[in-house]
Amino acid sequence: MDAFYLDPSAFPAWQAGAAAAAHRAERRWSDMRAFFAGQPADGADPVIYEVYTWPPQGAGSTDLDVSLTLLMAGRIGDEPFHTKGHFHHDPDGPEYVSVVSGEGLLERATRSGLVESVALRAGVQTLVPAGWAHRVLNPGPAPLAFVSIASRHVGHDYGGVRVAGWVRP
Ligand code: F6R
Ligand code: ZN
Repeated sequence: MDAFYLDPSAFPAWQAGAAAAAHRAERRWSDMRAFFAGQPADGADPVIYEVYTWPPQGAGSTDLDVSLTLLMAGRIGDEPFHTKGHFHHDPDGPEYVSVVSGEGLLERATRSGLVESVALRAGVQTLVPAGWAHRVLNPGPAPLAFVSIASRHVGHDYGGVRVAGWVRP
């Protein structure tokens, strides 16, 4: 992966430039209905977040995933936009998180249902300990952008987050 510089003050330009080289995925409300209690009032299907991943999938044998999540500002009913949230299949796989711009909340949860929150704002660096589920919420007025780094092999377990009440049974 080439070096890149994340300049929060120039984030829109950075997104258009550097992110164009990454693998991009988007999550709309319709991709994650079970992760929200309600539905958009006007029948719209908003993009909730975008994930840009380096290096592009299949580009090499590296076991490192670097991704940038751009979590939009908005609500479904009273619920702020948030990521789905997941455990890693590998219980020994932690994750590093670095906030580029915006404000929000990282929630992390154990399989026994203990949930903790970490306040996020530009410049915050934090860790998701191995074995903990994690999701990010954006109750603020601006998009929230954060970089995540984890081993690729850890895999994502989205069903397990039922223990934290993040997805409907
Ligand atoms: C990687 C990781 C992040 C998330 C991304 C989207 O392990 O945690 O890159 O994948 O923030 O969230 P989810 O995957 O929960 O939809
Ligand atoms: Zn993760």
